[in-house]
Amino acid sequence: MKKVLVVFLVAFIIIQFFPIDKTNPAPTPGMDFLTIKNTPPEIAKLISTSCYDCHSNETKYPWYSNFAPSSWFLKNHISEGRKHLNFSTFATYEPKRQAHKLEECIEMVEKKEMPLESYYIGHQDAKLTDEQRKLLIDYFKKEKSETERKMAF
Ligand code: HEC
Repeated sequence: MKKVLVVFLVAFIIIQFFPIDKTNPAPTPGMDFLTIKNTPPEIAKLISTSCYDCHSNETKYPWYSNFAPSSWFLKNHISEGRKHLNFSTFATYEPKRQAHKLEECIEMVEKKEMPLESYYIGHQDAKLTDEQRKLLIDYFKKEKSETERKMAF
């Protein structure tokens, strides 16, 4: 039993030599979703609290980002999250892609697939009530039709 513990301890110490890179990409002024859309503060707060850690370049790293292996899971979520949707560079997307991403946002929030459930550990405030989900969905819908309306010209 003691041996097993020692093995675990040594393994835990060794993996700490592989920390994650916590530097956020440089800010891209004028490209951020909440800024360009002039999102109402109430909605902007929901999006930044529940989505921005994984879907923007403004990630705030929690204490458990300092320890492997939790840091590795977190890093993977952030890289994947940004790859699929990065609110910080939203204005660089083609209008068609913007509309498509908004459609996906509606779907993800409706089906309660986002925010990722694992994110609630240490981020209780990111949990969305049904009412808040509805606010977000209505807002994403409005922005989507606005984007499509502009595309039609
Ligand atoms: C803990 C990190 C995390 C949080 C918080 C989070 N997401 Fe995600 N999101 C991901 C990851 C990782 C993916 C990549 C695909 C997957 O694993 O499902 C993703 C994918 C997506 C996609 C693309 C889906 C697709 O089909 O390509 C959308 C849209 C999305 N998230 C919207 C949101 C919205 C809106 C919020 C806030 C309400 C949010 N996410 C919060 C991690 C997160």
